[in-house]
Amino acid sequence: KIVVLDFGSQFNQLITRRIREFGVFSELHPHTITAEEIKEMNAVGIIFSGGPNSVYDDNAFKVDPAIFNLGLPILGICYGMQLIAHTQGGKVESAAKREYGKAELTVATENKLFGNLPKEQIVWMSHGDHVTEVPTGFEVIATSPSCHIAAMADASRKLYAVQFHPEVRHSVHGNDLLRNFVFNVCEAKGDWSMANFIEIEIAKIRDQVGDKNVLCALSGGVDSSVVAVLIHKAIGDQLTCMFVDHNLNRKGEVEQVMKTFTEGFNMKVIKIDARERFMNKLKGVSDPEQKRKIIGNEFIYVFDEESSKLENMDFLAQGTLYTDIIESGTATAQTIKSHHNVGGLPEDMKFELIEPLKTLFKDEVRALGLELGLPEEIVWRQPFPGPGLGIRVLGEVTEEKLEIVREADYILREEIKNAGLERDIWQYFAVLPDIRSVGVMGDARTYDYTIGIRAVTSIDGMTSDWARIPWEVLEKISVRLVNEVKHINRVVYDITSKPPATIEWE
Ligand code: XMP
Repeated sequence: KIVVLDFGSQFNQLITRRIREFGVFSELHPHTITAEEIKEMNAVGIIFSGGPNSVYDDNAFKVDPAIFNLGLPILGICYGMQLIAHTQGGKVESAAKREYGKAELTVATENKLFGNLPKEQIVWMSHGDHVTEVPTGFEVIATSPSCHIAAMADASRKLYAVQFHPEVRHSVHGNDLLRNFVFNVCEAKGDWSMANFIEIEIAKIRDQVGDKNVLCALSGGVDSSVVAVLIHKAIGDQLTCMFVDHNLNRKGEVEQVMKTFTEGFNMKVIKIDARERFMNKLKGVSDPEQKRKIIGNEFIYVFDEESSKLENMDFLAQGTLYTDIIESGTATAQTIKSHHNVGGLPEDMKFELIEPLKTLFKDEVRALGLELGLPEEIVWRQPFPGPGLGIRVLGEVTEEKLEIVREADYILREEIKNAGLERDIWQYFAVLPDIRSVGVMGDARTYDYTIGIRAVTSIDGMTSDWARIPWEVLEKISVRLVNEVKHINRVVYDITSKPPATIEWE
């Protein structure tokens, strides 16, 4: 494995991810890790990541000097390069002006790091300090116009360092450079896969949990499902899952979740029927923000109440992903504050947290889910908001309106699936605006609900465009909605992007 030491850059986890993509296991560790600990991990190489500090800051992040005596290859990136220079007898100075953005790099000598890469290449820089003198034994292996020592190496000690960021896509050959380091310098094998990740995580979970018990709030979404199955694989019946039925799920979802986990995986899942509770709380409320608050709070009350009925629960499993962690701000590993995304559970719960997905990105979680044998419907489930259908029924939420939107949503999903468009569209759903209009069915006048179809393409949900669903598919959906769902006499298609609209209507 390749150990990446965390000096606080936002790109750190990207490095481990790139390396895992090569089929080599990689993990991010705090920079305070000792040489002894690295040795025990059977690492074949070490990467010092970037970070916001200057090596001259009073509280600049350091490493155990003995790491340099392990004989393992080291690649320093940005701050990591400056740290190598500083500790090995070179000189680091603050540059006249911060360099940020693309730079043209020229490879100066033949070396293993740049191997067969083009002599001239575009790289991505982001730094204030730079190395002005290489330590004894090092040579300059690449330069750029504003940074003479853009890369350096002491090949005899297998120490390499680059001032730019090879892990970001703007560095055109960055990935190849990392590959050279991993395979040519570290001589890693490249036989790692998700199956190994599962093995390692299972061992960790067993170690952490011992003979204690774990509770997991299962929502049926990808993240909580994968966490639950992974933990179950590690500790079996020491895991109890809780699924809260708040009456705001899509058609068939509650049954599907219960069936998948209790029958398919033989897991202990307690279903809490809180439908009436949520409906009572939502009665007469039509303000979107108030609805969201009520649903979020009620979820916490129910979870708190029900979990306190269970005895001897010590751990709470959460499907926190790496992106949840970056989004809540990170400096280094120690200062990471976990972002709790399962229904927004409060932080003062009496549980110890267990978050086995926190080093993974969404696509890695999907791969893990498939490897664990989760069905594709769950692994590829589209994002579904915590407040569920409660924010897709505009205005007051009633049983009748929920029924309409649930049926409409089901038909929409069926037709999108039939048209083979599921993977092309980020999210597609039905919304029920609180309006009625006049129509004619048979020979009779109707005065009924309008249903809205929302379908968007997006990368991350932050921005989106409306999906260009073919007209014939829309036509089929429209005909089926009006014919099959009672109280719908009109269908509209939402053609606004985000911004200015949002994906959900509330
Ligand atoms: P908007 O409507 O803000 O949605 O454009 C962006 C993405 O977030 C989802 N969403 C939520 N997810 N809890 C969630 O877990 C929520 O309260 C929530 N509100 C919106 C939405 O479905 C879309 O994918």
